[in-house]
Formats: sequence, structure tokens, C-alpha cells
Amino acid sequence: MPLRLRLSLLITLLTAAFLLAGVFLVVNAARHDVRAELHSATSLTAELLQASIEAMGEKLNRSEVRDAMISGLTQLGGHRHIEITAWHGDNRAAARAAMPPARTAGAPDWFIRLVTPEMQVLYREVSLGRPDLGGVIIRAEPADEITEAWGSTRTLLLLLLTFAVAANALMYWLLGRALRPLGHILKGLDALQRGRLESRLPRFRVHEFDRVSRHFNSMADSLATSHQRIQRLNRRLFDVQEAERHTLARELHDELGQCLVAIRADAMIIANAPDAPPANVRASADAIRQTAGHVYQLTRRIMGRLHPAALEQLGLGPALRQMAGDWARRHPDIAVAMEIQDTPRGLPPSQAIHLYRVVQEGLTNVTKHAHARRVRLRLRDRGEHLWLVIGDDGHGLGTRRDGDGMGLMGMAERIQGLGGRLRCFSGPAGGTTLVAAVPLPTASAPEPVARPGQRPHAAPSETQGQTADDGAFSTRPQPVLHVADV
Ligand SMILES: Nc1ncnc2c1ncn2[C@@H]1O[C@H](COP(=O)(O)OP(=O)(O)OP(=O)(O)O)[C@@H](O)[C@H]1O
Ligand SMILES: [Mg+2]
Repeated sequence: MPLRLRLSLLITLLTAAFLLAGVFLVVNAARHDVRAELHSATSLTAELLQASIEAMGEKLNRSEVRDAMISGLTQLGGHRHIEITAWHGDNRAAARAAMPPARTAGAPDWFIRLVTPEMQVLYREVSLGRPDLGGVIIRAEPADEITEAWGSTRTLLLLLLTFAVAANALMYWLLGRALRPLGHILKGLDALQRGRLESRLPRFRVHEFDRVSRHFNSMADSLATSHQRIQRLNRRLFDVQEAERHTLARELHDELGQCLVAIRADAMIIANAPDAPPANVRASADAIRQTAGHVYQLTRRIMGRLHPAALEQLGLGPALRQMAGDWARRHPDIAVAMEIQDTPRGLPPSQAIHLYRVVQEGLTNVTKHAHARRVRLRLRDRGEHLWLVIGDDGHGLGTRRDGDGMGLMGMAERIQGLGGRLRCFSGPAGGTTLVAAVPLPTASAPEPVARPGQRPHAAPSETQGQTADDGAFSTRPQPVLHVADV
């Protein structure tokens, strides 16, 4: 549950508890008020009646006077929520039984139940001094009092409720404002996790968030610097590796190749000597010539793998076509579709060799892992970028875990060393497509290397006109299960 919602719920619960406590206090106060009011009304009436009886003195035996007094008091009582009933002699029980039910206007039942006082405060009996004269019952009627109390209580409750709702809404808004930096921080972390090392956080007004922002930014700086160092190191490593391979290929060509040619020539001289050597010597010389020729072919193949001469002589396109053609001949059961532009402009051999190696590893992976029937290889010069796509219709990456091998990682490092980016697409229906975008150097620009913290060039999937489907075989877009920067 989002933090903002969680805090808001907590505050709402607290407010509801306070609201309940408020309701309890207000209703309790109303109950006390009603009770006190009724008590004072019945007491006052009883006092008045008592005083009148004492003032009548000897006239007490005149029942007309008594009746007139009671009738006057009864009218008065009606106005003050008091009902006065006379009783004569033994009729007391009948008079009590005539108490009318309470009538309240507008107050809800729960309120009436909570504030209605106990019965004993509702009535009083006053004797007129002699049993034959009887007396009066004074009853307090709480309905009006309750209605009155409900009026003021309702106003208070409404005020409390309005306050609670307003306080909650305000807190929700304030929390949203206060926690807004968290959204930025999460976005920043997400960007870092996706390899966008140039992402930085702004300064925040809240001190704690501002500290997080500063730490985040310095951490991103360090990450970017380390990343740049690693990239430089990798690039250097690949360059040294290629230089070593180049030297080795030259040595093989210049030394071993020359020696093998010489051995073959000598064997031919022996076999064709004019003084006709014995047959067994001639046969051995022939065998030596054949073996030397075989080792020479082998050496040429190794030389080709160590350093593809075609790359320097013909350029990347033809070299790739040659390599893919050789690969296709070794895998007659796999149909290879090639769309390779002849002369992708401006990519020197020192950089082209990295793309060559990427294709080499890509095809090796198809051989080793894909069980594919079709492979597509595409190299296109599209304005500022060179796009390379290697796709197959094999098993797909499936449950591949990072760290399974070095090939994909090495491919990505090589492409990043060129300032580009490699992405890998694999769907549930199978098939794997590697898409690399490499920026082409402009006439004046030096060889491209990603600057510290700079995002490598647009991810293949984010660039117009190039989709995961580019290397796949169906014309419908496939759902992509595994899309990752390699
Ligand atoms: N075209 C492909 N089809 C299916 N799975 C692939 C393909 N390419 C790579 N994989 C999967 O990705 C994993 C990693 O490939 P990667 O090239 O990095 O390592 P590797 O080929 O196993 O070993 P290495 O290249 O280091 O000799 C492979 O083990 C394989 O499971
Ligand atoms: Mg591999």
C-alpha cells in the first residue's frame, strides 16, 4: 500500500477515534443538561405549589380554591414542559397511570435513548395536607428538552464532522506534497537500475529528502565514473586482444606459412628429383607435401579467425558476408537470410572488428543454443546509426540467467565501447533477436566512446523504425518475454 494512503488511513482512524470521543462528550453533556433542566423544573413547580398551599392556610378546606389553584398551575406547567395532575383521595394510582408518552421532534432514536433521564426525576407528588383533599402529581416532560438538546448537539456534531473531514483532506494534500520527493527518488533509482547513469535528483526543500538527493547524486557520480573506467578498461582490453590476435596472425602467416611453403617445395623437389629416388622415398616426400599443404590450409583458417583479412581488404560488409557464408555452409540445415549493406561508411577497421566479433559470437550462440531453422543477419546504415540485427527462430532465451556465459556480456561491452547499445529480445513463442545500434562517427568527430554518466545511444527498441520484430520471422509483432540490455 502506498505510504501516502497508509498515513492517510492512520490519520483517518485517529480522527474517527477523536470524533467518537467528541460525540460521547457532547451527548453526555446533553444528557446532564436535560436531566438538570427537568429536575429544576419539577423542583421549582413543587416549591411554588408548596408555598401556595401554605398561603391558603384555613381556606384549605375549600375545594373550589384548591381546584382554581391547580388549574392555574397546570396551565403554567404546560408552558414549562410540566404536567400537573390532581388526585383525589384514593385515585392516586389512576392519575399516575395517565402519564403521556414522550414526543420528540427530529431527534434520532439513539440520541433520545442516550439522553432520556431516569423516571424518578420526571415526577413529584405534593399532598394538600389532608387525605380527603388529595394532592397533585408534577410530571416533567423531557421531549421538548431533548429536542432542544438535539438542536445544539447536532450543530456541535456537524462542526466536529466538518473539522474532521477538512483536517483529513488537508493532511492528504499535505502528505502528497511532502512525499512528492519520494516519487523523484524512486524514478531516479529506477533510471539508475536501467543503466541511465546520467540521471540525477533535484534539490528538495525537506531537509531529509535533500540529504537523500545529495547522497544519490554523489553515488550516481561515482557509479558513472566507475562505469567509465570499466568501459575504458574493456575497450582497451578488446583493443589489446585484437592487436595480439593480429600480431599472432601475422606471425603465423610470415613465419609458419613461409616455413610450410618451403617444406612443401622441398618435398616436391625430392619427389621430382632427376636421379629417380626410390619409390618409398618418393611416397614419403608426397606425404610430406600433402601434410604441409593441409597444415597450411589449417593455419590460414586459424589466421582468418584470429584476424579476418577481409575486414581490412574489403570492409565490414563483405567480411561479414564471407563469414556468414562460411557459417551457412557449415550449417546446411539452417536457412540464412542476409541483408548486409556493402560499405557502411566511416567505420574504421579498429572499430569494425568489434561488430565482426559480435556477429561471430551471435552465430556461434545460434549453433550452440538455439536449435534454429532460420537465421537473419542484417546490417544497415541509417543516418547517424549503424544497425545490426541477428535473429533466429530457435528456442529463445527461456530461463537464461545472467552469468551463464561470457559471450553476450562481451558483445554488449564491445558495442558499448563503440558508444552504442545492445538489446536482446526473446518471446514466449521462441526466437532470439539481438539488436545493436552503433553511432557512426561524423567527419570531424573522434572515435565514439561513451562519456562518464552519459547514457549510451538510444536503446534499439526506443528508436523510430526499429522494433524487436526487425529480426523476428513473423510479420505480426510478437509478445516479448525477455527484453534486456545485455
Ligand atoms: N541464440 C540463442 N538462442 C537461445 N539461447 C541463447 C542464444 N544466445 C544465448 N543464449 C543463452 O544465453 C546464454 C548466455 O550466452 P553467452 O553467449 O553469454 O554464453 P555461452 O554461449 O553459454 O558461453 P560463452 O559464450 O561464454 O562460451 C547461453 O548459455 C544460452 O542459454
Ligand atoms: Mg556464447
